[in-house]
Amino acid sequence: MQLEIKTVSKQYHKGAWGVQDVSLCLTPGVVGLLGPNGAGKTTLMNMLATITRPSRGQILWNGIDISQKPDDLRRVLGYLPQDFGVYPHLSAGEFLRYLAAIKGLDRRTTETRIEALLAVVGLTAVAKRPLGSYSGGMKQRVGIAQALLNDPQLLIVDEPTVGLDPEERNRFRQLIADLAGDRIIILSTHIVGDIEASATEIAILSQGRLRQHTTPEVLLRAVEGRVWEWVVPAADMPQVRQRHLVSSAIRRSDGVHVRLVSARPPAAAASPVSPTLEDAYLGSLHIEQREGNDRAVSSPLQAVTL
Ligand SMILES: Nc1ncnc2c1ncn2[C@@H]1O[C@H](COP(=O)(O)OP(=O)(O)O)[C@@H](O)[C@H]1O
Ligand SMILES: [Mg+2]
Repeated sequence: MQLEIKTVSKQYHKGAWGVQDVSLCLTPGVVGLLGPNGAGKTTLMNMLATITRPSRGQILWNGIDISQKPDDLRRVLGYLPQDFGVYPHLSAGEFLRYLAAIKGLDRRTTETRIEALLAVVGLTAVAKRPLGSYSGGMKQRVGIAQALLNDPQLLIVDEPTVGLDPEERNRFRQLIADLAGDRIIILSTHIVGDIEASATEIAILSQGRLRQHTTPEVLLRAVEGRVWEWVVPAADMPQVRQRHLVSSAIRRSDGVHVRLVSARPPAAAASPVSPTLEDAYLGSLHIEQREGNDRAVSSPLQAVTL
């Protein structure tokens, strides 16, 4: 099972590129596709899901070009698009049965499959209620259930936690972690916490280019010894933000507890802390800004330096 993306670019119109020269080779595992808004995550995923075609380059599923033979991939693909919409008057069960019919599942496997999936996503008790009455998190869980109808080998999930409240978000993160196994899962997000628990690999996109493809461990190691916590008066915060790469700032009674990424301690009073993936992501986006935007790193897995 292998998905190979070979120097893929997508041009929307003259001079406007969605992604540029992206190369990635994926095998079973959970890939966290991280990048700020506009980085090209949806563009890339739409090409992988055979919804749009690359302007240049090739995408190979088990060695076969998906532009030439899309059906081999489509059969084993599950996709939860960023703007997933449901029919408000259908119940979860009806909606899933409808999509199973479109996907060509036979009736008997459909019923057992839907029953199992509703249990996996925790919607059995509400399966007969109209989708219009569901919360955002429940709708996203229906979205995941439909993506899993064919027990996909390639599961693509685009920004699934947008608009979810913290509890729903956590539940969704856990669900993705539970789905890992003998399949390739690609989950895009601009929130590091979404993939912190589940990702076996991280791919970082920005401005249409692949900046990193590596493991969380390597990304973390790159900022080891470069993350500091520093308590500063609230009034100093604008200056601190200007001078430093701030990963988080939490106001407490003794001042603002700032976490920042820096090769050297920002002040004598700052104490070293162990990096989180958020720090590492921030650090890696920053290096790329400092070193210019043409530095594209691609697979094989590479290390970062700060
Ligand atoms: N249909 C489109 N037509 C023109 N430009 C687009 C279209 N879709 C996306 N883009 C542009 O391509 C770039 C990448 O967008 P997108 O893939 O949606 O990023 P992300 O999903 O990471 O937020 C952005 O600059 C965006 O404005
Ligand atoms: Mg997007």
